[in-house]
This record gives sequence, structure tokens and C-alpha cells, in this order.
Amino acid sequence: MTSNVVLQASGLRRTLHLPGGSQLPILRGVDLTVYAGQSLAIVGRSGSGKTTLLSQLGLLSPPDDGVLTILDKKTNELSDSARAALRNASLGYIFQSYSLVPHFTARRNVELPMRYATRVSRLDRKERVSHVLELVGLAERAQSKPRHLSGGEQQRVAIARALVHNPALILADEPTGALDTTTADTVLDILQRATQAQGAALIVVTHDPAIANRMDRRAVMHDGKLTEECG
Ligand SMILES: Nc1ncnc2c1ncn2[C@@H]1O[C@H](COP(=O)(O)OP(=O)(O)OP(=O)(O)O)[C@@H](O)[C@H]1O
Ligand SMILES: [Mg+2]
Repeated sequence: MTSNVVLQASGLRRTLHLPGGSQLPILRGVDLTVYAGQSLAIVGRSGSGKTTLLSQLGLLSPPDDGVLTILDKKTNELSDSARAALRNASLGYIFQSYSLVPHFTARRNVELPMRYATRVSRLDRKERVSHVLELVGLAERAQSKPRHLSGGEQQRVAIARALVHNPALILADEPTGALDTTTADTVLDILQRATQAQGAALIVVTHDPAIANRMDRRAVMHDGKLTEECG
């Protein structure tokens, strides 16, 4: 199929079952279509379900109901291993906290998603890691461990790690939340440029209107639904 739809979600739902027996609906039917090369910001108040939604879109947790199609594959019809393979091959995830492995160097952290790419030779893998470290401006710091890197540098390592296997879709949960405004700007520039260079689609969860305004599209999570803003 030649469709340039990267992700299509329809009717995604998630309800939490709280201690005491009550139920808290978080996602009440989320619909979303994202095309190759597009960027989308998801905003909404704290607790509105942005991370919950992103983890469903990233195949990290399953919806209670709804259909999620990624690269023409209906993910709910896939076996666990096929879903994991799709996630490993096609998705890059930047977590709300950097979640780097503390005792690994920047280079080894970035290399992690490639451990599944068994058909890629060691040399190609090495070149690929060097390329993305270069893209995020950290070629010189490849041998540094996270504790010797600033917050902005650690987040750039996390970005490089999300890009290294050339995924079709990057999902970023508050990628600049822990950074000062200037560093956040630089990191976001890097994320956007690197994503564009690879022709990937980008979904960014953010509280920051300035960041949201830099994306092609903006949508708000409210009352368990996602509503796109026009213009
Ligand atoms: N594992 C969990 N157990 C219980 N409640 C949870 C769990 N994960 C999320 N929640 C609740 O689900 C709701 C949505 O959480 P989520 O993390 O998706 O919000 P968010 O929009 O990302 O918030 P923030 O902007 O603060 O990151 C919140 O009320 C949260 O307390
Ligand atoms: Mg969150």
C-alpha cells in the first residue's frame, strides 16, 4: 500500500479501576490520523491523559477498546511478538524522564534500540550511532556517562536513541519539560531538524504553548478526548 498515513487511531479508550471499585475514564474515544513527515503537538492539563495516550500510540500499553493502525498494520490483531517487532522497528519513544541507563556511555545508550536490528552489521551500527550523535551535536561526548552530562545533553542522548533505528514515528513526552527555556529551544530545534532529516512523523506532548506553536498541528486532550485546533 502507498498510503502516507503513519498512524491512525479510532475510538481509543482507557478506564482506570481504582481501589474501592470506582472507575475513572481517562481516554473516552480518541481519534487521530498522522501522516509521514508531519509534526503534531498534544497539549492539555496535568492528569488529562496525555502520557496514557502516548503510551498507547507507542504500543507500550494496550487500549481497553478502539483500533490503532500503524504503517497499515492493525496493531490489535498482531501477536505480542509482531507488535514488539513493529515497535522496535518503526517507533522511537522519548520518555517524560530521560530514562537513560546510568552506567552506560552516551554511545551505548544510543545503541540500545539497535540491539534488535540483528541484520545490521557491527560496523553499520557504529556508523549509525555516530551519525545520530552528530545530528544532536554530541559527537564529542559519545564516551560520557549520563551523570557527567547536563540535563539538555542527556535529553539530546535520549533523542539520538529515539532516532537511531530510523523510525517512521517519533513520540516525545514532554521532551523539554525539565529544561530551561533556552536549552529547551535548542533541544527542540534538534528534535525537529533530526526528525525532518529522516522524514519521520513527530508527536510531541507539551505544556509549552511556544513549543506547540512550532508544530504543524495542535490538539488538546480534554475530558478524555482529543480535539484538534484549527490554524
Ligand atoms: N498506573 C496508574 N495507576 C493509577 N492511576 C494512573 C496510572 N497512570 C495514570 N494514572 C492516572 O491517569 C490520569 C492520566 O494520567 P497521565 O499520566 O496520562 O496524565 P498527563 O496528561 O500525562 O499528566 P502530566 O501532564 O502531569 O504528565 C491521571 O489522573 C493519573 O493519576
Ligand atoms: Mg504526562
